[in-house]
Amino acid sequence: MSAPDPVATELLKLTQRLLESIVNSDWATYEQLCDPSLTAFEPEALGHLVEGLAFHRFYFELPGTKVLRHQTMSDPKVRVIGDVGIVTYVRLIQRAGAEGRGPVTGGYEETRVWHCQNGIWRHVHFHRSPIGRTE
Ligand code: GLY
Repeated sequence: MSAPDPVATELLKLTQRLLESIVNSDWATYEQLCDPSLTAFEPEALGHLVEGLAFHRFYFELPGTKVLRHQTMSDPKVRVIGDVGIVTYVRLIQRAGAEGRGPVTGGYEETRVWHCQNGIWRHVHFHRSPIGRTE
């Protein structure tokens, strides 16, 4: 059995940190991990490619977003091609239900692209698609 690739391990840890920053509304960490030119396709952008961080910052600053949530990166895979890393997985998010309702699980297929810039990995692109939910 071969030892885990240290670059793949680092990219998984960075991606986990990024996801935790999202669920904790921790803008400082999210901004630190991302390149200012980050591009993204995600459901909130209604089919548009979003460029830059302002679009994402809006969600971190929403009041009352600190609901009880737990997330899991399911079956993550990492590919490293030169100074680019690609991390793919399904993100499962469990959250407490609205008043009087049971907990809810949602899921997204996510692709996160990282670029190594002067020895530091920065998040440069992602694509997030919903895979359905239980309610
Ligand atoms: N919506 C921000 C992110 O998924 O990175």
